[in-house]
Amino acid sequence: MTGSTAKLELGGKTHELNVRSGTLGPDVIDIASLYASTGAFTYDPGFTSTASCESEITYIDGDAGVLLHRGYPIEQLAEHGDFLEICYLLLYGDLPTKAQKEDFDYRVTHHTMVHEQMTKFFTGFRRDAHPMAVMCGVVGALAAFYHDSIDISDPHQRMVASIRLIAKMPTIAAMAYKYHIGQPFMYPKNDLNYAANFLHMCFAVPCEDYKVNPILARAVERIFILHADHEQNASTSTVRLAGSSGTNPFACIAAGIACLWGPAHGGANEAALNMLAEIGHVDRIPEFINRAKDRSDPFRLMGFGHRVYKNYDPRAKIMQQTAHEVLGELGIKDDPLLDIAIELEKIALTDEYFIEKKLYPNVDFYSGITLKALGFPTTMFTVLFALARTVGWIAQWKEMIEDPRQKIGRPRQLYTGAAQRDYTPIAKR
Ligand code: CMC
Repeated sequence: MTGSTAKLELGGKTHELNVRSGTLGPDVIDIASLYASTGAFTYDPGFTSTASCESEITYIDGDAGVLLHRGYPIEQLAEHGDFLEICYLLLYGDLPTKAQKEDFDYRVTHHTMVHEQMTKFFTGFRRDAHPMAVMCGVVGALAAFYHDSIDISDPHQRMVASIRLIAKMPTIAAMAYKYHIGQPFMYPKNDLNYAANFLHMCFAVPCEDYKVNPILARAVERIFILHADHEQNASTSTVRLAGSSGTNPFACIAAGIACLWGPAHGGANEAALNMLAEIGHVDRIPEFINRAKDRSDPFRLMGFGHRVYKNYDPRAKIMQQTAHEVLGELGIKDDPLLDIAIELEKIALTDEYFIEKKLYPNVDFYSGITLKALGFPTTMFTVLFALARTVGWIAQWKEMIEDPRQKIGRPRQLYTGAAQRDYTPIAKR
């Protein structure tokens, strides 16, 4: 690689490729013209060396453990920001002025109800369905209820759909929870902020007053902020790929939710807590550490490791502090799962295997403990992740749609199947 070009020797010829630099992070070798000039594709399963797009939203330095949204460190946003302020920042690029913030809060707050007929849609599901299965279906169905905001070529409709998704996701998530446990749905309350309203819709019942604990609401808000966006992860890339065909944003977000559900991604918070419960006692930690190290055993320590962070996940540090605040506020002194989590973290951080492979606790390691203490069943953990990530998905989708160079995403392949052969009638096979 020299200056701003890279040279590739292929088939006896030298091909020059442009090298582009961003504001931060590694340079990229622009291979868009590679196939036309060489007839060859690049091969990178899992996209470990591939930048799939150009983006101004989020920056991660995985080696240094840095996460920036529009340039602002996550630590500062989590300490000082409120969730809707972060939503505005992700969507529009800058922190809002007081007037812009008031207007944005008003618009989101006044879109929190869902079409009344959606309550009937919920009742089509089994009550014992996983709430993520319900989320995939209901969010996809939004396009059937709000078809006045699915024309993606209209900037006004794009904005309305974005606000609707951010506003309605807590309502839908709370409805999925209430339906799961057999309680009546609670309507949103517009005098509560985003996080407090969500707690109210989840934990209030119509027959008595429920006062949201502001410390717990702040903890939930911090969880939302920590999960708001994370660059081109699997679910965000899914949203972008779905959106690249021109489909509507509700369908794109439903696709993102489906991808997030997997245990290697958003499903890890549920899996991490189930793992802590399975370990059961600090004495059994070595047994599970040994299993995680055994290459013949598929078991992995859930909540450890990250494709990008090869250092402590900065979100995990804040999440750890939030977990302690919530347990302190609720007077939970000796939570056996927290004891196991702390000991497991200690052992993993000093174990040669985890050090060598740079496997640090990720955000999901501590979010599960916090959400459990708040009263959410494990099946709801990934739903909360989806709720918070919706703004990131929408901001990334909006950025892509507004990019004049945007094309349908269409990867190619290294074909290793049979070469051309002739059909044989079944009697001759
Ligand atoms: N426990 C034990 N070994 C592990 C773990 C783990 N949690 N994670 C990775 N490794 C090992 C893995 O076996 C491999 O070893 P070897 O080189 O000997 O084959 C090496 O570390 C590299 O792993 P990889 O699977 O090639 O790395 P990846 O970048 O493809 O996977 C990951 C990243 C997050 C999927 C993986 O670390 C993992 O499965 N972690 C557990 C699930 C989890 O906590 N996911 C949440 C991610 S953070 C929230 C989010 O973004 O959604």
